[in-house]
Parts: sequence; structure tokens; C-alpha cells
Amino acid sequence: MNHLVAPSILASDFGNLQRDIEMLNRSEADWIHVDVMDGMFVPNISFGFPVMEAVKKHATKPLDVHLMIVDPDRYIKEFAEKGAYSITVHFEACPHLHRTIQGIKEAGCHAGVALNPHTPVAFLDDIIQDLDLVLIMSVNPGFGGQKFIPNTYKKLHDLKALSALRNPNLYIEVDGGVGEQNVKQLIDAGANVFVAGNSVFSAVDQLQAIKNLKNPF
Ligand code: DX5
Ligand code: ZN
Repeated sequence: MNHLVAPSILASDFGNLQRDIEMLNRSEADWIHVDVMDGMFVPNISFGFPVMEAVKKHATKPLDVHLMIVDPDRYIKEFAEKGAYSITVHFEACPHLHRTIQGIKEAGCHAGVALNPHTPVAFLDDIIQDLDLVLIMSVNPGFGGQKFIPNTYKKLHDLKALSALRNPNLYIEVDGGVGEQNVKQLIDAGANVFVAGNSVFSAVDQLQAIKNLKNPF
């Protein structure tokens, strides 16, 4: 699978959201990553449905929704109706993960599970075959612009091995501290979807930053 790039609008200029989404439409980005935080699961609040609607109104690319919220079952249907392409919930926030994943699929979306830095890939052993996507957090969720955690490479190797065995078409997404400096090494470790917030939106030439993530060799 050719790798995908999913810039995170968490790092965009919310005062110029339409402008930034139109930039992503013109760019080589594949998906648009939408980070929803509730101030409970993570110590930060980002945005909810009104912003999701605004993004959907202007975006021409699939919306990759990352729910950093407790009890996400409450909102899956509504995110699907508002145009999510994929919905990713956190392993640590879902006591009935199998049911939650079925709910995402019944709502018509691709289903993903995110793992915090301390959560082993092995915990997915009995659900991996039901997933479209696994998101490996390479920082602690809650904020953009944090430092990449090197143990991520080991987790990507573990996940790649599990996926090769049981779910070869899995999207293996990495989120947090991703940029030009590590994308090639992350591809080698098995990742095939790259979330990038600050490395895209803090760049002087944002289109070029996305191009560099798409063509890192
Ligand atoms: C962090 C979010 C990330 C964030 C990544 O909790 O899940 O998607 O936007 O931002 P950067 O790329 O700046 O680390
Ligand atoms: Zn995210």
C-alpha cells in the first residue's frame, strides 16, 4: 500500500479554517485528520460537531475522525451523519470495544482503534480481524506539537507482524510528532498512514511540507 498523509486540522488556524481546508484540498494530502477532545479522556478540549460540520462543508477529502473522548458510543452515529469516513476510538476508553467497533461499521464508517503509548499492541489480538485501522499514538494524546516517543518503532513492528498474519489490509496510522525527519523510518517500521499537525501547519510552505511527507525518499 502506498502510504497516506493525513494533516491534522488541530494545528490549523481556526480563524481561517476554510482557507486552511482549501489548502489541504489542493495539496497531496489523502485524508484530513479531525481530533476531537473532551477534557475528560484527555486534559484538553478541542472542538465538536459545529467545527466538524464546517470542515465537512469545505473538505473534498475523507475525514479521519480521532475521538479522544470517554464513552464514544454516545456520538458515533452523529459523527457518521456529519460525514466521517473513518472513526477511531481509544482502546483505553472502551470497555466493550467489540460492540463499539460494530457500531462504527453499522454507521457506515471505517473502524479504528487508537492505542496510547503505554498500551501494548498485543491487547488487540482478539479484535484485529474486525478493524480497518489501528492508530498508534506516538505522543500522549491531548496536544499537538509534542515530542515523538521512540518506543513507537517497536510497537509499529509488533503491529505490522500481527497485521501480516491476521489482517493484511489494515491501515497502520501513526499520530504525534511526525514530520519529514522521521517519516521514512516510520514507513520502514510498518506505518502506512501519517498524521501530521505542526510539521505541516507551522511550515512556511505548507503544500511543500505535505509533498515532502508524501515523497520522503
Ligand atoms: C494529539 C492528536 C494529534 C495531533 C498531532 O493528541 O491526536 O493528532 O494533532 O499533532 P502533531 O503532529 O503536532 O504532533
Ligand atoms: Zn489525532
